[in-house]
Amino acid sequence: MRLEDYIRDIQDFPKPGIIYKDITPLLQNPEAMREAVNRFLDELGGAEIQKVVGIESRGFFFATLLAEKLNAGFVPIRKPGKLPYKTLRERYSLEYGEDTLEIHCDGILPGEKVLIHDDVLATGGTAAAACKLIEKMGGEIVQCNFLMDLAFLKGKEKLTPNKIVSLFTF
Ligand code: PRP
Ligand code: MG
Repeated sequence: MRLEDYIRDIQDFPKPGIIYKDITPLLQNPEAMREAVNRFLDELGGAEIQKVVGIESRGFFFATLLAEKLNAGFVPIRKPGKLPYKTLRERYSLEYGEDTLEIHCDGILPGEKVLIHDDVLATGGTAAAACKLIEKMGGEIVQCNFLMDLAFLKGKEKLTPNKIVSLFTF
């Protein structure tokens, strides 16, 4: 099954000049979702994971499915002001400007083996900030996985030396 066939390009969303990669056709199709979950699990090769970290918002969908399959906990990384308890924060650069990500301070315990998940690896700024949060908390990043990566933006370079998996590339 070609999972990339379930991604819809939306021209000029959310701003002119941007082609948005819409994953909702994939989410609407149970066979495609199952295929994606199984491929993520195969890529892990049985590695032990204690926490799956999903990045708001499009990272949440598969992160929770994977956490359940891996018998791991799910931990959200969210945009600022959304998490109710004490948080750690990390600022990161966007194409224009800056943003912040937060995680609950008790989300990851020192030494826990962590899988980070998001839907798209673009410039890598978001995932790199997530990695910094996990490292600050003493978590061990086993892998960063993505449904897709936009290779021309070279996001993988920002995440070295972590192991990166993406199911398909544009
Ligand atoms: C998108 C995408 C990734 C991130 C990738 O999220 O879902 O999380 O951008 O970009 P980067 O590699 O250049 O950092 P977005 O911030 O649009 O929010 P959303 O997931 O809530 O839609
Ligand atoms: Mg996102």
